[in-house]
Amino acid sequence: MTDTAPRTGTAVRPPAPRPAPGAPAAPGLPPVPTPAYLYDLAAVRSAHARLRSCLPEPSSLYYSLKANPHPAVVSTLHGLGCRAEVSSPGELDAALEAGVPAGDILYTGPGKRDEDLDGALGAGVRDFAVDSVHGIGQLDRAAARHGVHVTYLLRVNPGGGSRGAGLRMTGEPSAFGADAEDIAAHPGRYTGGRHARIDGLHLYLATNIADEAALGDSFSEAIAVARTLREALEVPLRTIDLGGGFGAPYARAGELPDYPGLAGRLAQELDGALPGWRRNDPAVAFESGRYLTATCGQLLTRVLDVKASHGQRVVVLDTGINHLGGMAGLRRVPPLHPDVVPPAGPGTERTGGDGPDAAAEPPGPAMICGPLCTPLDTWARSHPLPAVAPGDLLAVPNTGAYGLHASLVLFLGHPAPLEVVTDGGRIVRSDRLAFVRRAAAT
Ligand SMILES: Cc1ncc(COP(=O)(O)O)c(C=O)c1O
Repeated sequence: MTDTAPRTGTAVRPPAPRPAPGAPAAPGLPPVPTPAYLYDLAAVRSAHARLRSCLPEPSSLYYSLKANPHPAVVSTLHGLGCRAEVSSPGELDAALEAGVPAGDILYTGPGKRDEDLDGALGAGVRDFAVDSVHGIGQLDRAAARHGVHVTYLLRVNPGGGSRGAGLRMTGEPSAFGADAEDIAAHPGRYTGGRHARIDGLHLYLATNIADEAALGDSFSEAIAVARTLREALEVPLRTIDLGGGFGAPYARAGELPDYPGLAGRLAQELDGALPGWRRNDPAVAFESGRYLTATCGQLLTRVLDVKASHGQRVVVLDTGINHLGGMAGLRRVPPLHPDVVPPAGPGTERTGGDGPDAAAEPPGPAMICGPLCTPLDTWARSHPLPAVAPGDLLAVPNTGAYGLHASLVLFLGHPAPLEVVTDGGRIVRSDRLAFVRRAAAT
């Protein structure tokens, strides 16, 4: 029997060919082969500064690797002070590869195999989030096996739900968290054992809320739940992780939302509910994936074919649902209505089609398809597009979060796209995920 996945169950990223320091800046850059994700680290830094300005101080911020685990992105955010929130062996490896020390990693997720915990503990991780009484016992036994003491945040599923959320995570039957009512009724079940002790609460109520009032309401609910359970649990709670929900454009042109009044509102509510938070007693934490990375990325693609089909212009690209939007149909990311536009930035110089069959079709609505041998690989049935010919470059903006890593990369066996990291107009790293089949013990 063979195993399609390497040790961690995720794809292998070969060592990055790194250009020598001082590599030439645009316009001397070679054109980037497509399909390719371009990630701009300057945009990551600017999104981070913007988000920090919306958060009350003092507070810490976790970067959720599920949005984009590329090591250059993770290490940039860690360098800016973010800790890493990981929820799988592959994300743990990505954080460690990016240079995040194990002490700065929070290992979350509603279901963990014993070997996942063993791997994390062996790597030195000591902070976990757990979602159930069973999860606490499992972590306690794992820590005992390793002869160590660990702490956990107890993830809570409160009674209500958040308005305006892109995707509600709690307030309904869910794998995430223990019911707040049960924690309040049976606090002794949730405070831990000899090797794993509760450190605080983890409240992640929703994702992708662009409206400030709705996001504020979601945090208000989290703060109120934290206040109630802090009293009910009757043990010191050193950390209250209020989660996130910060919105971002997805595969469409647009700006990150601003939340100018959020820090003030939350500070006031924290003063009332958790006095001491200004002295880090408890320490307040937030989490974000998409806000920090969505706007750093664009997906570059080349036109492979253009034709008229039953009166409709059809444009076939060299990328599709295998590289972007694969999870849209599963409700895990917003529905995909991508903007497909002429690209911008270093490495994206328009090369244009050539050859006798490369005449551009006139502008107007086009059906935009990928190269996969399935009619499912259609990003849009009627999308405004300039005149294009085979060989032309196009781009989908704001794909730095839930792009490649929320897609169907193994479906139909095309290679993963190139991932190119730029900073200050220079390419600083370029690599490609590879998938290997290895023999496995059965
Ligand atoms: C626990 C937790 N933290 C962080 C995130 C990241 O969410 P976002 O990328 O919307 O910030 C998620 C998303 O599902 C999550 O479940």
